[in-house]
Amino acid sequence: MGKIDVLISEKQIESRIAKLADEIMQDYKGKEIVFLGILKGSIVFMTDLAKKIKNDIEFEFMQLQSYEGENSTGKIEVKQDITGRIEGKDVIIIEDIVDTGRTLEFLLQYLEKFKPNSIKTCTLLSKPSRREIEVPIDYTGFTIENEFVIGYGMDYNQKYRNLPYIGRWRENV
Ligand code: IMP
Repeated sequence: MGKIDVLISEKQIESRIAKLADEIMQDYKGKEIVFLGILKGSIVFMTDLAKKIKNDIEFEFMQLQSYEGENSTGKIEVKQDITGRIEGKDVIIIEDIVDTGRTLEFLLQYLEKFKPNSIKTCTLLSKPSRREIEVPIDYTGFTIENEFVIGYGMDYNQKYRNLPYIGRWRENV
């Protein structure tokens, strides 16, 4: 059994996302943007953020295989690739959480072959204390401690993605 504590409330998420949207609009004035959402965890964040931005935004998705339960295996494979063309376009990778940094590191290299005009990175959460590879993050929602979180897109064994807040999972309580 386990228990869920609220770590970041729905209200806190909403106001932080409004600020991130403003920053992105400042940086991409008049430009089209491609949001590349990394499935499945980024989906809730991506749609809420996109709705607050007035630029034209194309949606692309990729799914990677890298994480089993609570432990990162370290190995990354592309399970689902982008379907559209991003050549010459301005891409923002949308992540739920940057942990070791391996996923973003992989993506930044992988996407080069598609020749986008630019790639930036945006994550709802960052756990800097877990970083194994220093990756550039352009937009960060919240920085958190080294603890396992769920909700607002993030799962524990595929559950809890639809919680409207970010919770802290506590085992054995
Ligand atoms: P990284 O490659 O180690 O940076 O891992 C990033 C991925 O690990 C995220 O996109 C999540 O899918 C998963 N992940 C890392 N920490 C958590 C967590 O606390 N809760 C849920 N998923 C997590």
